[in-house]
Amino acid sequence: MNKAGPISPRFAWMAALLPLEPDHRVLEVGCGHGIALGLVAERLTSGMVTGVDRSAKMIAAAARRNAAHIEAGRLRLRTASLHELADDPGSFDVVFAMNVAAFRTRPERDLVAARDLLAPNGTLCLSAQQPPWGKHERTFTDDTTALLKKYGFIVINWYHEDMAPHPTGAVIARIAPAPDSP
Ligand SMILES: C[S@@+](CC[C@H](N)C(=O)[O-])C[C@H]1O[C@@H](n2cnc3c(N)ncnc32)[C@H](O)[C@@H]1O
Repeated sequence: MNKAGPISPRFAWMAALLPLEPDHRVLEVGCGHGIALGLVAERLTSGMVTGVDRSAKMIAAAARRNAAHIEAGRLRLRTASLHELADDPGSFDVVFAMNVAAFRTRPERDLVAARDLLAPNGTLCLSAQQPPWGKHERTFTDDTTALLKKYGFIVINWYHEDMAPHPTGAVIARIAPAPDSP
């Protein structure tokens, strides 16, 4: 529980799947209120987590929630769409997103942007909580796996969890080696 009410279990579930090291450079796309950002920042020492969201209102809420982590230099925020970030290629060890449709609706823009920002051995984690009136949750992991393969990733693992209020899925991927690499 926090002052805004209980935190959905999906955030802790997804954060636990991230292969974080204390010095990692981490990017959350579509960070919303910044709940997952705070969970990641707690696991970093010399590392840094960046939250990007195209909504200034969401970034303001994430800044309020994470003021202590920002002050400590472990967390920073950007108001932008993912493809507008000007960070150098390979700037992040881990890129993750939860409930962000852009990777499915604009993969040629947003999956490509995520791939460019990932370090060569970096990890991408895409997660979604799907309501029961949608398709079965396995559709998210199956569809996302197919999309990731098409855009130059290899899927390392996928997960499903039956949790309240809806089942949640996640896919973990890395950049596929170039075809001619050993
Ligand atoms: C459904 S909300 C999910 C927020 C949070 N990740 C969560 O799980 O509660 C989607 C968020 O992603 C942001 N968003 C969508 N597409 C984006 C993009 N291409 N770049 C940055 N932010 C994006 C929206 O502004 C919104 O805050």
